[in-house]
Amino acid sequence: MGKPRVYVTRIIPDAGLDLIREYCDAIIWQDELPPPREVLLRETRDADGLVSLLTDRIDGELLDACPRLRVVSNMAVGFDNINIPEASERGVLAGNTPGVLTETTADFAFALLMAAARRIVEGVDYVRAGKWRTWGPMLLMGADVHHATLGLVGLGRIGAEMAKRARGFDMRVLYYDVMRREDLESSLHLEYAPLDMVLANADFVSVHTPLTPETHHLMNGERFEQMKPSAILINTSRGPVVDTEALVVALQKGEIAGAALDVTEPEPLPADHPLVAMPNCIVVPHIASASSITRGKMAEIAARNLIAGLNGEALPCGLNNDVVGKGRNAMPRDWQLFTPEAE
Ligand code: GLV
Repeated sequence: MGKPRVYVTRIIPDAGLDLIREYCDAIIWQDELPPPREVLLRETRDADGLVSLLTDRIDGELLDACPRLRVVSNMAVGFDNINIPEASERGVLAGNTPGVLTETTADFAFALLMAAARRIVEGVDYVRAGKWRTWGPMLLMGADVHHATLGLVGLGRIGAEMAKRARGFDMRVLYYDVMRREDLESSLHLEYAPLDMVLANADFVSVHTPLTPETHHLMNGERFEQMKPSAILINTSRGPVVDTEALVVALQKGEIAGAALDVTEPEPLPADHPLVAMPNCIVVPHIASASSITRGKMAEIAARNLIAGLNGEALPCGLNNDVVGKGRNAMPRDWQLFTPEAE
C-alpha cells in the first residue's frame, strides 16, 4: 500500500513539512507567491489532503474539482478562506491552528500600538533621511500609552491577551464583543460597553474579530466619526473588517489621528496606495504571528490536522469534526497511515 497524496500550497516550516513528508507523498508548491487558481485546482485534483494558507480560496468549485480530497488543513487561525458548510456537505474535514499564535499575535498588536503612539517608524525614517541634527524639544511628539484607554473590538483569545499587556501599562481597558465575557471582566480588569461607547472613549482601538458577514466593514466611516480625533486604530484581525477607503478619508480629515495595520483590504496593499504614504499610518505585511517558534508550531498543528483527517479521525484543531465518518471521510482508503505520537 502506498502513502496518501497531499498538496501543500507553500513551503512551510520543517516542523510541519517533515511530518507531512514522512507520512504522505507530498507535492509542495515552491514559489513565494501562492499557486494560481488553475494550478491549485490541477495539483489538488488527485490529492487526498490539502495544506492551505489564508491566501488559498477553498470553495465548492475546488472541492468538486478534487473528488478524492477528504481533509483541508489551513495553516492559520483564521479560516474565512474556507467555505466550511461546503466542506461539511461533502464530508471534507477542515482544520485551523488556534492557540499557539495567540500571545505572539497580541505581542505584535501591542507593538503596533506602541509604534504608532510613539511615532517610531517616523523616527526611523527621519534618521535614515539624514534629518537628525539636534535634540528637539518639539520633535516627533506622540501620545502616551501608559494610563491611556484601550478599546478592544472583539474579546476572543487574542483580544484577551492584548488586555493583559495593556494592564502592564496601567491602561483602562474597555471592550465590545457580541458575547459579553463577564468571566473575564474581573480577572482582566475589563469594562464592557456598547461598540459606540468603546469607540467614543478609547485612545487606542484594537480590532480582534474574525471576518464574517457581520464584521465585514465593521469599522467604517460612521465608526471613525465616533472615535476621538486623537485616537489610533490598530488592526491585526482581517483586512476587510476595516473599510479601507473610509479609513483613508478619516485620516485625511483628521477624524482619527493614526492607524497601524497588519492586515489590509486588499492584501497586499499596493505600494502606491494612499495609506502607505501617510506618515500617521503604519502598514506591515500580515506578520503578526510571524515568530519562528510560533510559525513552527502552526506548521506542526497543520500537519497533525492533515494526518488525523487522512486517517479519518477527529482533527486536533477541527472546524467540522462532526463529519468524521461521513461523506468522503467515509470513503475506503487505498493507503496505510499511522498517526504519529503527539510529543
Ligand atoms: C493569520 O492571520 C492567521 O489567521 O493565522
